[in-house]
Amino acid sequence: MGAKKFYIETLGCAMNVRDSEHMVAELTQKEGYEPTDTLEEADLILINTCSVREKPVHKLFSEIGVFNKRKKEGAKIGVCGCTASHLGEEIIRRAPFVDFVLGARNVSKITQVLHKPKAVEVDIDYDESQYAFGEFRASPYKAYVNISIGCDKQCTFCIVPHTRGEEISIPAELIVREAKRAAESGAKEIFLLGQNVNNYGRRFSGEHPKTTFTDLLKMVSEIEAVERIRFTSPHPLHMDDAFLEEFARNPKICKSMHMPLQSGSTRILKAMKRGYTKEWFLERAAKLREMVPGVSISTDIIVAFPGETEEDFEDTMDVLEKVRFEQLFSFKYSPRPLTPAQHYENRVPDDIGSARLKRLQERHGEILDELKAKRVGEVHRVYFEELRPGGMVAGRTDNNMLVSVEGSEELLGRTLSVEITEAGRTAHRGRVVA
Ligand code: 5AD
Ligand code: SF4
Repeated sequence: MGAKKFYIETLGCAMNVRDSEHMVAELTQKEGYEPTDTLEEADLILINTCSVREKPVHKLFSEIGVFNKRKKEGAKIGVCGCTASHLGEEIIRRAPFVDFVLGARNVSKITQVLHKPKAVEVDIDYDESQYAFGEFRASPYKAYVNISIGCDKQCTFCIVPHTRGEEISIPAELIVREAKRAAESGAKEIFLLGQNVNNYGRRFSGEHPKTTFTDLLKMVSEIEAVERIRFTSPHPLHMDDAFLEEFARNPKICKSMHMPLQSGSTRILKAMKRGYTKEWFLERAAKLREMVPGVSISTDIIVAFPGETEEDFEDTMDVLEKVRFEQLFSFKYSPRPLTPAQHYENRVPDDIGSARLKRLQERHGEILDELKAKRVGEVHRVYFEELRPGGMVAGRTDNNMLVSVEGSEELLGRTLSVEITEAGRTAHRGRVVA
């Protein structure tokens, strides 16, 4: 008889991707499982869920129903991640065939719940900030490294503090050790992860010398084998001068910054409890563009937050016009349980929300077309990390543009100069020039 097999589906953000890697490591190294891409072949089916918006949560139950029909006899189904945290045992009530529920920040317990029928482990105070997970990375070229768990912000729209609990920073020496080990085994790009990375050092679970995110960036960049550092997500409120200066000065830090705006209206930002104003955001973005020529700025925007007027929305459009984000992730407000905003009055009608989202996305598409026209002929350093169909290899520029060139395996893991020959809105084609 061959090894037991597991199938895993990962939804949501980079934190979830890393949580899934941790579960893979635990299952393969401690339980003798092997991964499979074929659901029907799996002895264990895991779905690592996201609860940030309502739609995917609705879809969860129909999806696991399908899993249950397709699975082989005796196979177990586990629901993990943020929706597991927030719905807990309700998941087993609504879908009694589910074998266990494992919340975000409890993933180190995967080897326990596996053997406990109908286990529900969703404690959001559980501290796994120093748990020694086994080693597994989906890509040999790029390593996700967690720097904190949880989130202490109380943005009024956001469910995450209720699914991932309070913020605890991982000790800097553990982060540096992990980054060093990953880089020395070939992952030259280190991706630092946390819900609010530039709030790093706010709280550790034991005694720890004061360390800021800026200090941590310096420490990771001192590792010789590390060539590139990326991070997500920073908070605009904590973008102080020291942080921007280190970002600009340090050649190992990739020149792309995520600045989640959420809204361009100071009034709405206040209702969201974001802690900054439209002016603060614009000033920080302008300073960043001035300090770091060629930087790309991405953002998240929510339209139709309760009480958002036409005038508020025009403020968001105005920030879009002024900052000209290289990448936009935009959403219509979705009321979430456990959050203050779900009780706010003055809900924006759905059709108005949809129209605002459309206008925002269309205008952003035009901005991308304007940016794109200038890209052809530019030369960038591209770190190649992925084979693509049709004899292509893809990688990212320092400022996070996706570029593919003709080529094969021998380009993987190398950083080469590439001239952009054809520019698209989200991905470009190029040719290696050195
Ligand atoms: N409704 C819509 N979008 C949301 N986000 C977070 N909560 C909600 C919500 N209730 C968006 C934010 C965040 C991104 C990950 O998801 O823009 O930055
Ligand atoms: Fe989704 Fe937020 Fe949880 Fe990530 S932290 S999986 S975005 S709810």
